[in-house]
Amino acid sequence: MSSVLNVGAGAGSYEPPATVVAVEPSQVMIAQRPVGAAPCVRARAEALPLREGCVEAAMAVLTVHHWADLAAGIAQLRRVARRRIVILTWDPALTAEYWLLREYVPRAAAIDQARAVPLERLADLLGGARIEPVPVPFDCTDGFAAAYWRRPHAYLDPDVRAGISVLAQVGEPALADGLARLAADLASGRWHDQHADLLDLDWLDTGYRMIITDLGGG
Ligand SMILES: C[S@@+](CC[C@H](N)C(=O)[O-])C[C@H]1O[C@@H](n2cnc3c(N)ncnc32)[C@H](O)[C@@H]1O
Repeated sequence: MSSVLNVGAGAGSYEPPATVVAVEPSQVMIAQRPVGAAPCVRARAEALPLREGCVEAAMAVLTVHHWADLAAGIAQLRRVARRRIVILTWDPALTAEYWLLREYVPRAAAIDQARAVPLERLADLLGGARIEPVPVPFDCTDGFAAAYWRRPHAYLDPDVRAGISVLAQVGEPALADGLARLAADLASGRWHDQHADLLDLDWLDTGYRMIITDLGGG
């Protein structure tokens, strides 16, 4: 794709080089974009200040769950993209099964479930889509919720937790009990016994999903 629009771009962490314009409503996030990043317009997905068909592809990474009007936002992506729309989000049924949420922080699973966008709804609004798993490597350098699936000690680090929005939403007091159990299970070897199956894996499907629609335009 020679021209990409990144919607809900944040600081631009996942922007491909072909990005010609980014859209982001938060000035705080825009201020964190690196020098040399694509130009960024302060706006919302629901009202993109861009011409019809002005980019080949539109992408939206871990942002659709924030949109106040999902249908309007998706309609805008369809209006401005000629060939492809790519959305990264997650399947809440699978993320609820992630060991951290299921065994230690069930409250995070409930929050995650409440804010998630059903994949079928997204596919419907897009007028059809293919849905592909996005497995996470064991040494993932990003710090999102499931990034540390094979490095459980990381969740005991407050700096790591601060970068994980669903844990930040639960709040430190409500996390204390689950984290104490995790620390105890790591110290006793129970976690490693329970999750021996993970230790030999290099990749894990923790529920992240890529939703891709080819629009067929030139
Ligand atoms: C979890 S961050 C993801 C940022 C970036 N896509 C990334 O993956 O690094 C979600 C972003 O969506 C933005 N956002 C919230 N409401 C939005 C809306 N209605 N339209 C577009 N972006 C929105 C937030 O300001 C935030 O930057």
